[in-house]
Amino acid sequence: MKKAYIETYGCQMNVNDTEVIFSILAGEGYGRTESMEEADLIMANTCSVRDNAEQRIWGRIEQFNRQKKTRPGVVVGIVGCMAERLKDSLLETRKVDLVVGPDAYRSLPRLLKALTPDHPQIDVLLSRDETYADITPVRTDRNGVSAFISIMRGCNNVCSYCVVPYTRGAERSRDPHSIVREACDVFSRGYKEVTLLGQNVDSYLWKSEGETVNFAELLRRVASVSPDLRVRFATSHPKDISDEVIDTMAAYDNICKHIHLPVQSGSSRMLEKMRRKYDREWYLERVARIRSVIPECGLTTDVIAGFCSETEEDHAETLSLMEEVGFDWAFMFAYSERPGTLAARNYPDDVPASVKTRRLNEIIELQNRKSLESYRRDVGKCFRVLVEGPSKRNPDQLCGRASNNKMCVFPGGGLATGDYADVKVVDCTSATLICELV
Ligand code: SAH
Ligand code: SF4
Ligand code: F3S
Repeated sequence: MKKAYIETYGCQMNVNDTEVIFSILAGEGYGRTESMEEADLIMANTCSVRDNAEQRIWGRIEQFNRQKKTRPGVVVGIVGCMAERLKDSLLETRKVDLVVGPDAYRSLPRLLKALTPDHPQIDVLLSRDETYADITPVRTDRNGVSAFISIMRGCNNVCSYCVVPYTRGAERSRDPHSIVREACDVFSRGYKEVTLLGQNVDSYLWKSEGETVNFAELLRRVASVSPDLRVRFATSHPKDISDEVIDTMAAYDNICKHIHLPVQSGSSRMLEKMRRKYDREWYLERVARIRSVIPECGLTTDVIAGFCSETEEDHAETLSLMEEVGFDWAFMFAYSERPGTLAARNYPDDVPASVKTRRLNEIIELQNRKSLESYRRDVGKCFRVLVEGPSKRNPDQLCGRASNNKMCVFPGGGLATGDYADVKVVDCTSATLICELV
């Protein structure tokens, strides 16, 4: 049997895409390997969201190509967002055999057949309707407890800094019946948690023959698969998260009480320029609404430091918003100009690198303090945790997440991966709740 090795970069949607690719390759007789040295087909499923994401991947492609030198016949491919962004220029500059964009994975069998050393193959066509709905992903998670399910692809927003709409194409929602079927299928195979994935899950909308399903309705359907199946989702968009979604979360015990709600900036002037279509007040109102309906809800965010023309006042507004909301944790980035985006075409990338770094460090420092405060507030509380496996730091202990998405570690007490554990928090760090079984 031939073997395929895929390294995955970027967001969770790419993790799920890699699983779809393995499923398509299985139909061609390729098994999955975790060792590049024994693979006949080596691929990187890539991310273009920031320049440093791409730089990291270039180094790996060099490594892959070295395998070709020692083992003639090995095929090297670039798939995913960099394939889509850079298209055929990759064939010249990187000497790879295969370039396949996010909507073209079904053509992999055809491309592999047509491939010869002198004829590299490329397919970067974007699609208006591809959702891979009928493909059962080959799960690549290690614990067999938590599965990702893509519910939509692409993005119809035009946040001015963001390359995703260009690499992923237009937004399209997947047939809800195939989503529920996939959730039932993983549950019957022992999984206890599904995470519904999309760039903007709140705009999920499926219409067909008199049936309209929005995101709240989809949540209800997936949550109804079983009370023992936990449901998570990402990413929510502040402009679109509806009261109906918040109320639905509150109504189902098995919908986890955690929302990843990227704010990007605390300055309304920056948000306008980023084309996020909400302002600071709107964001704070959504947070207030979430907290009034679900007081225990975990809240996390993404922040960009040093977007075009950002002043010290704008930056101070980001800090004050983070101070006010008190997120549990955040992904924090320095702005990275992406070729072809609205911002790259219209606004100079004029915040000096040293200023971006200093602002980012201030943001990180503040968030570390707020994370510790947030985790400390949970000391003394009791949570139900889904056991994911042994703790990485201390294999004698187990780890798993509380509903609010915080990682808990606790003594095993005869429990196994996939069990639910009732724990009490006795101590914490800024990223882990240290617990006892109750
Ligand atoms: N769809 C999601 C985010 C997708 S990209 C949303 O709208 O929230 C993940 C994160 O990467 C973004 O939230 C943003 O914080 C960051 N990001 C995107 N483009 C970036 C850029 N050009 N420079 C720095 N960070 C960026
Ligand atoms: Fe990018 Fe904005 Fe779409 Fe998120 S919503 S993927 S940030 S364009
Ligand atoms: Fe990166 Fe593409 Fe995801 S650019 S963040 S892998 S959609």
